[in-house]
Amino acid sequence: MFDQIKVVAIDGPAGSGKSTVSKLVAEKLGFTYIDTGAMYRALTLKVMRKNISFSEEEKISEVAQMIDLKLLPSLTNSNSIRVILDGEDVSSEIRKMEITGNVKYVAKIAKVREGMVEFQRRLIKGLGGAVMEGRDIGTVVLPEAKYKFYLDASFNERVQRRFMELRARADSVTHSEVADDLKQRDHTDKTRAVGPLKKAENAILVDTTSLSIKEVIDKIVGAVREPPVNGI
Ligand code: CDP
Repeated sequence: MFDQIKVVAIDGPAGSGKSTVSKLVAEKLGFTYIDTGAMYRALTLKVMRKNISFSEEEKISEVAQMIDLKLLPSLTNSNSIRVILDGEDVSSEIRKMEITGNVKYVAKIAKVREGMVEFQRRLIKGLGGAVMEGRDIGTVVLPEAKYKFYLDASFNERVQRRFMELRARADSVTHSEVADDLKQRDHTDKTRAVGPLKKAENAILVDTTSLSIKEVIDKIVGAVREPPVNGI
């Protein structure tokens, strides 16, 4: 299905460096960057704005089917993307802790995930190359991807990174709130019945705990430029 396209699948938990690294890898390779977490976040925002209760899974699935969502390159910063929901730029809003804490309710709904997976597969059609990051990319969305990576780091390092990132955005979150969020999300991401966070068997594991961003990027770009060892 993707034999003409170079697809790099990058999965891993929050704070593993996935987003930063994926954007820069895409830039280096001249590939399109696709942030699937942004899609689940935007859907969560829409559900909250419509005052739909998270227990109304059928209604949430309907919203997911109709969602008008675009991921566009940023106008000012090549390292970021704009997330456009119903014509409105929600890029900053979807990163707030309130959204982060609620994504799990929409991300566990089987019908929502089915729709998202289809949408994500459609997105790469016609592209010369794509770097897609998330939780289930190497396992469910693009199991035939030529290149798969699973990024991880120690829990403390991940908390520290996420804390610094939120602080830089002037989010008034505390260190222990970030630790609680990550602990909870690790658990819900890894234990949900559909599309759980899991390393694909043929993914390359990269422990980023003591690696610089550049070192991680070099590892991935180096592997992509070599002939693939896994997959087709
Ligand atoms: O940036 P961070 O790793 O904190 O989160 P994200 O990648 O933006 O994803 C936010 C949440 O969306 C995750 O905690 C997952 O629960 C969910 N998600 C998912 O279920 N499947 C994906 N492919 C991507 C994200």
